[in-house]
Formats: sequence, structure tokens, C-alpha cells
Amino acid sequence: MAPHTPTTTAGKPMVPGMPLREFDTLEAEHDYVLTDESGTLPAGLRGTLYRNGMGRWESGGSPVGHVFDGDGMLSVFAFDGQRVRFRNRYVRTTHFLRGQHSRGPAGRGTGTLRGDGSFRANAFRWPLSNQANTNVVWHAGELLALWEGGKPHAIDPDTLETKGIHDFAGGLRGFGSFSAHPKIDVRTGELFNFGTTFLPFPGLAAYRVDTTGTLHTLARWRTPVPRLNHDIGLTDRYLVFVVPPMTVSPAGMLPVFLGLRPLGSALGFRPEIGTEIVLVPRDGGRRIHLHTDAMLHFHLTNCYDDGADTVIELIRYTADFDTLWDHFQHGFRTAPEQPAVGGPLTRLRVTRTGRVIREDLTDRIAEFPQIDARMTGRRHRYSYSVDVAHHRKVSGDQDAGYEVVPSGVTVLDHERGAEATYEIPNYGSVCETVFAPRFPGAPEGDGWLLTVEYLRDEHRSRLLVLDARYPERGPVYVGGLRHHLPLGLHGSFTTRIAA
Ligand SMILES: [Fe+2]
Repeated sequence: MAPHTPTTTAGKPMVPGMPLREFDTLEAEHDYVLTDESGTLPAGLRGTLYRNGMGRWESGGSPVGHVFDGDGMLSVFAFDGQRVRFRNRYVRTTHFLRGQHSRGPAGRGTGTLRGDGSFRANAFRWPLSNQANTNVVWHAGELLALWEGGKPHAIDPDTLETKGIHDFAGGLRGFGSFSAHPKIDVRTGELFNFGTTFLPFPGLAAYRVDTTGTLHTLARWRTPVPRLNHDIGLTDRYLVFVVPPMTVSPAGMLPVFLGLRPLGSALGFRPEIGTEIVLVPRDGGRRIHLHTDAMLHFHLTNCYDDGADTVIELIRYTADFDTLWDHFQHGFRTAPEQPAVGGPLTRLRVTRTGRVIREDLTDRIAEFPQIDARMTGRRHRYSYSVDVAHHRKVSGDQDAGYEVVPSGVTVLDHERGAEATYEIPNYGSVCETVFAPRFPGAPEGDGWLLTVEYLRDEHRSRLLVLDARYPERGPVYVGGLRHHLPLGLHGSFTTRIAA
């Protein structure tokens, strides 16, 4: 287990094995208006950017053992047309609250054992703790902090106070999970999502949440072994599952249940079983199951119907699973060689006859694919991603380390086949970008890319607003934070302005 403690001095060369400081813990909870500004805040940019991600990688005074095991911390940037207000607050999960006074990690995790790591502290306990650390979405009057292994936490959209577990008035029963990448059809206002089920049998469930916030189960099916799926797509006809062959080994679960190892030790990649594509009709009709060559991926950009075909765009990883998992388990550090945490944007076309045709859309290695969310389920012209291609050498001497943190914002125009990139200067890094339209009803892609840059030399972060049409020109507005913001995961923009 690797602690993510700040051990480097900003501006000094890093050597292999040093933690990247964008993963430093932020304990404090802030609330202030951004005053360290440059450029011009777009007058039409009104709404709220919510972000979620791991804010700290320790619990009960001890480091956690996997980058996914940190406590979820929400951030909000509220744009009222004149100024930007920032606020951050940890989700008050059971894990977070217990970690305030526990000795050692308050719960088990992907790579973490509880307490002192002993058999007594871990045997026969549920192997995962809900960290509520992956995404945040506003739907049907609720702000939900999401985590794929369990139920959402309802959050006050203004104060970010945790209201409690949200089970959709009992609609999400038992151990049912509600994953972290739901898709909203802006034309109907419905939210679609899925959950992984473990008991009484391993499987997947597809959900629709209507505009009143009521959850409906569209489908539920078994999988021969527990499989990990992270994201889904939506078209006019289907919920689209692209399930990679990441599996949980039943034999590997024995030491997990005995409390000897964390859940991550039972995970593996089985290329021989391939990637499975499941098309679940939105009307609850008969599912279509197809198989294609094994791919390692986590995130889909978007899906859409094209005549009788279904088109899927995703990030196809180039690293092998074991290397990647080892990287996640030991934290993000400088090293002579690092796996690329990402891959090229890739298009899959599923034909009427069930053929799956794969095409890489670019050579650029990227992650966190996004679109103008109004295009969800429809053919989109622009894809947004952050660039992880640069393994930047951070010092001139031969002992220098390399970093693989995201360091660019790229817009891919599918119509023109053109890419434009804003590269973060001075070895900084950047988190996922979220699109906000220039005004309600603006054409696709006419708007702003919102992201948070980490300034390595100052160990501080700042909000960037880029013109989504011309990212290469650099930010039109920069709003400095008084501190760093740990490099998080996912977020969303809503036109509701947080108070
Ligand atoms: Fe994700």
C-alpha cells in the first residue's frame, strides 16, 4: 500500500517513486468567491459545474491501498453570470464518518483491508465500502453522488450537505447498485443507468428513472461469472452495454471472504471470453447479446442509432490489465515507465446481422471522453477528451521520473476529421472537461469546456474556461483557487445555479 502524502517540494525535480502531488489529500472544506481571475468570464455562462473524486487517500490515519478507495469529495463551481463561487465538501458516507476516529482504514476497499488488516478485522465483512467518489448528477430534483458498487448518496445541491442514501423510495432493493455513469435523454428527461448484482446471482440490471424520480427496472440478467462494467450508452432504441472481460474469480473470492485479501485481488482480465455487447431495448423488449474481440475499456463517449446499425464510441485502452491494475494499486507516481491510462477514441459499429466493426478514430491516447450532453443518444459531431499521451520527463538528469497524468484538452471534430488541443503548460495536469452551451439552444459544440488545471510549481489549482470551438487558443477565463484540488474523476453541468 502506497501513501499519497506530499513528499516533494513544488518545482523540484521528481525522482522515480515520488507521488504526484495532484493526488495530495485536501482535508479542508472551503466556500468562497474566486477573486484571482484573468480573462473574461463569459456572460452567458450561467449554471453549476459539479465535480466528484477522491479527496483523500487515507482513512483512520492510514493510507488506503488503491486509488479508487479514497473518500468522495464534491466540488461545485457556481456561475451566476458575474462571478464564480467555489465550494467543496466530503460526502458523509459511513466510511468517511467512521474514518474520523477509526484506527486504520474504516472499511474494506478495492485494494484496502480494514483496521489493522487482520483476519479479525476483516473476515466475513462486506468487501467494499461505499465511497461515493465517482460521479455526480442532477436529475428529477435530486443531486446524487454516485459510486458503482452501491447506492447513491443524496446531496443538497446548494450546501453540498449529505442527506443520506438514496434508494429511489425503495425501488433499488437489497445490495442493488446504481452505477456512476448514467445517461440522460434530454428530449424525454429520463435517466438511464445500470447496476451490478452479486446476490443471489452475479448479473447486471438496467434501470430507467422517470422525470418524477421513480426507478423502473428494464431488464435483469445473469452473467456466468461476476463481471465488471463501468459505463453504458444510450440510443433512441437501446441501452448499450459493452462489457469487458474483467471478471471476479470465484476461487479468488475465498480469501476475500475470509478477510485475507482485498476484493481487487480477485479481479482479472480473461481475453478468451471476449467483450460482450448487450443491447437492451428501452421499451423493455428482448435483449440482443453479441460477442467481439476482448477490449480493455472503461468509458463510452456516446452511442447512437445509424439506420439499423448501432454505433458506439469509447476509449480503448492500450495497456494490459495487469500492468494497469498494478499502477492503480500502487498509486500515481513517477516512474521510468508507466502504462498509458487511456487509449485511442474507437468506434464500434454493430450491424443488423450482428457483426461488430472496429475502427480507431485517432492515434491520440486519451481518457475521460465527453460530448455536448444534449447530444446523448444522437449522432454527435464533437468528442472531448483529456490527453494522456505525454510521458513527460520532469527533469533533465537520468534519474528523472516520468508522469502520465492528463495534460491536454482535445476536441475531435468527426465531420472535418480534425483535432485541436490545448496543452497544459509547465508540467501541469488537467481533469475531465465538461461542456456547457454558450446559451440555451446553441448549436452542438458552441459553448465552453470547463476543467480544473493543476499548477505543479505552485501546488495550486485553477478553473479554466475554454472556447469549445477553439481550445488551442487557451482559456478565455481563469479562476484561481486558494489551494490545490485533488485530481478527481467525473462531473456534470446543470443550468440550475447553486445558491
Ligand atoms: Fe468513470
